[in-house]
Amino acid sequence: MNKKKLNKYFKKKKIVVTGHTGFKGSWLTLSLKNLGANILGISKNVPTNPSNFQASKIKNEVKSKKLDIRNFKMLRKVIKKFEPDIIFHLAAQSLVSISHENPKETWETNLIGTLNILEILKDIKKNTVVVIITSDKAYKNIEKKEGYKETDILAGIDPYSASKSSAEIAIKSYFDCFLKDKKNIKLGVARAGNVIGGGDWSKDRLIPDCVRSWSRNKIVRIRNPYSTRPWQHVLEAVWGYILFSYKLKTVGKLNGQAFNFGPNDKKNYNVIELLNTMQKNWKNVRYSIKKSKRFKESNLLKLNCDKAKKYLGWKNILKFNENIKLTAEWYQSFYSEKSRIRELSLRQIEDYKKKFIKNI
Ligand SMILES: NC(=O)c1ccc[n+]([C@@H]2O[C@H](COP(=O)([O-])OP(=O)(O)OC[C@H]3O[C@@H](n4cnc5c(N)ncnc54)[C@H](O)[C@@H]3O)[C@@H](O)[C@H]2O)c1
Repeated sequence: MNKKKLNKYFKKKKIVVTGHTGFKGSWLTLSLKNLGANILGISKNVPTNPSNFQASKIKNEVKSKKLDIRNFKMLRKVIKKFEPDIIFHLAAQSLVSISHENPKETWETNLIGTLNILEILKDIKKNTVVVIITSDKAYKNIEKKEGYKETDILAGIDPYSASKSSAEIAIKSYFDCFLKDKKNIKLGVARAGNVIGGGDWSKDRLIPDCVRSWSRNKIVRIRNPYSTRPWQHVLEAVWGYILFSYKLKTVGKLNGQAFNFGPNDKKNYNVIELLNTMQKNWKNVRYSIKKSKRFKESNLLKLNCDKAKKYLGWKNILKFNENIKLTAEWYQSFYSEKSRIRELSLRQIEDYKKKFIKNI
């Protein structure tokens, strides 16, 4: 696909992004703005302070609706009134640690929130493409070395992972029973892994924990030094979702399908390797290892992304080092010259977009 075609497709498209104030949602919103889309963001709150949403000054260029996605009546009213061409559903309680502290709210947000979107789709008359974001954690984790395929069993254990697996069952059920014969709805599910990048300050996530400590010259405490994760830059996942929405519209057989979006590195990187790479880009990287029994985390989590490569022409573009460099650059600018962050975020998007267009 060339740049013109991509810009032309998204220009003035009416797009709902739920969770637009969050880490991924804010980068998705900025990227869709770059393509000229007309966006309505729906979120309960800005989940962290600071945040990419605030630092990149997104508020001024999108319509924002402060709304809890569990409120079905309001959600339906707002979405029906806007008449979107595309919906990206990201709003979620997104943290495993919080899901242990507050399991019921996690389940309600992630399952009922998704059910509400599905229920609304039943009545929509306009042609609408919908991409629902779940997680690599939706898979039953058996520490599979080759990486999970889309056909593997979905059975998360902790409340966050389980709520995402359940959301997937609800999506499949609604698709098979109500949506697959509706010619105007094209629905897809996106499962990405741990994303990193500038502007995440969520609790108990590795990079946010690190930059919070290092920016105050403190030592960060690492819980699971040898855990590996499918680290990928947030823009890789976000542009994967954008491409997926386009392909759902143009390639009929993708309707109702799920895709993994993860790194294609043969090598798995663990937490220590990530910190060592960070050290090349950040002066005062200091950490201590202190295992925590607060909640169990899997050691190995890996995705097989062959399906996305074959059917969407999508693959991760950035090397591990480039990913870390972009992330470090963003936070360093934030802590040294906050007023430049919007400009930097837009530049990172434009640079990534150039590479993306060359590679798809
Ligand atoms: N960040 C990751 O590494 C990662 C990995 C895999 C999957 N995901 C998924 O991607 C999506 C976005 O993740 P993120 O890291 O940007 O999350 P985040 O915590 O940064 O943002 C969550 C967003 O959801 C909104 N939200 C939460 N509860 C809501 C409610 N009840 N009603 C309306 N809005 C609500 C928040 O206001 C915020 O905009 C989530 O679905 C998450 O599960 C994230």
